[in-house]
Amino acid sequence: MQTKDKLLMRALAGETLDVPPVWMMRQAGRYLPEYKATRAQAGSFLDLCYNPELAAEVTLQPIRRYGFDAAILFADILLVPQALGADLWFVEGEGPRLSTIQSANDLARLKPVETIHETLNPVYETVRLLRASLPAETALIGFAGAPWTVATYMIAGQGTKDQGPARQLMYGDRATFDALIDRITDATAAYLIAQIDAGAEVVKLFDSWAGALPGAEFERYAIEPAKRIVAAIRAHNSDIPVIGFPRQAGEKAEVFVDATGVEACAIDTSVDAHWAARTLQPKTCVQGNLDPMLLVTGGQALVSATKATAEALGQGPHIFNLGHGITPEADPANVDVMLKALRG
Ligand code: CP3
Repeated sequence: MQTKDKLLMRALAGETLDVPPVWMMRQAGRYLPEYKATRAQAGSFLDLCYNPELAAEVTLQPIRRYGFDAAILFADILLVPQALGADLWFVEGEGPRLSTIQSANDLARLKPVETIHETLNPVYETVRLLRASLPAETALIGFAGAPWTVATYMIAGQGTKDQGPARQLMYGDRATFDALIDRITDATAAYLIAQIDAGAEVVKLFDSWAGALPGAEFERYAIEPAKRIVAAIRAHNSDIPVIGFPRQAGEKAEVFVDATGVEACAIDTSVDAHWAARTLQPKTCVQGNLDPMLLVTGGQALVSATKATAEALGQGPHIFNLGHGITPEADPANVDVMLKALRG
């Protein structure tokens, strides 16, 4: 099967399908016993990310179990900061930790963009392995974090509730902040292009903290970098679709879509699917937006919400997905319930 004939690609090309293609954010993850087993075999989460055979294996696990229409490369958005020279480690049960960027001096210690591939080559190898082993009908999605979201972790050295340290640097030392965003933007474009060259058929840009950028700052740090990355991809290989995910941006998703020209916009749970159908779908494919909590609780509420989401977005191009990643507490059997409600 050619790439363009895969269901996911047809939706991304603007087609309205009877049953939308479906995949889940974090579909390879701790809710699956087989993921936990492979992760234990790898050693740590980062060892898993940099082991092409095992990273490909965990990417394939949810495809084998559920037959999703797309596989997403197994890696993490924080590999780019690491490739740029930041220290990165994960604290079990807590999350990521990084060395921090708080001044021009810290920034000066980062490595040049051209050197990132030395660290990221195993990721490209994972992409190559996946293209060779995925079922013919399954599309392969590559991804990266959007510059603002990646910057929030690089500045604070960890996840934060309100992205306070990043907003503080943004207002307090604009030159350093801008230089950091530029560096990440260039690295991200190079990283995604290398994934595309290795075989990724679609790429997704995760801006998990886009909602923390007020007014003009949203234009400058969510829209502008995404625009530059999309332009770099177009210049390199014009027919690779890009999925944007300006999470928690609410109705600003509309200007995001208009300005960046992404082929799809992923929406989180807080966005009304009917609003997205009216406002976004005439311009782009919409991906989303089932509440991941329903995969913990299951039952009739899961069935109804799955059908309601598919119906709300059923008159235009739609990729069925969650509003955010599936959680470790989710019951793997509930994913079958969701798929049955969707596909019949
Ligand atoms: O979606 C997928 O299945 C593809 C792989 C993927 C991971 N992280 C694997 C992962 C993707 C696309 C990401 C994106 C990512 N990583 C984001 C953006 C999306 C989002 O969730 O908002 C962010 C902010 C990160 C950074 C990150 N990685 C955090 C904050 C954490 C800790 C939180 C947690 O869930 O434990 C991670 C770890 C991580 N990344 C895990 C996985 C499967 C869990 C690690 C483990 O196995 O212990």
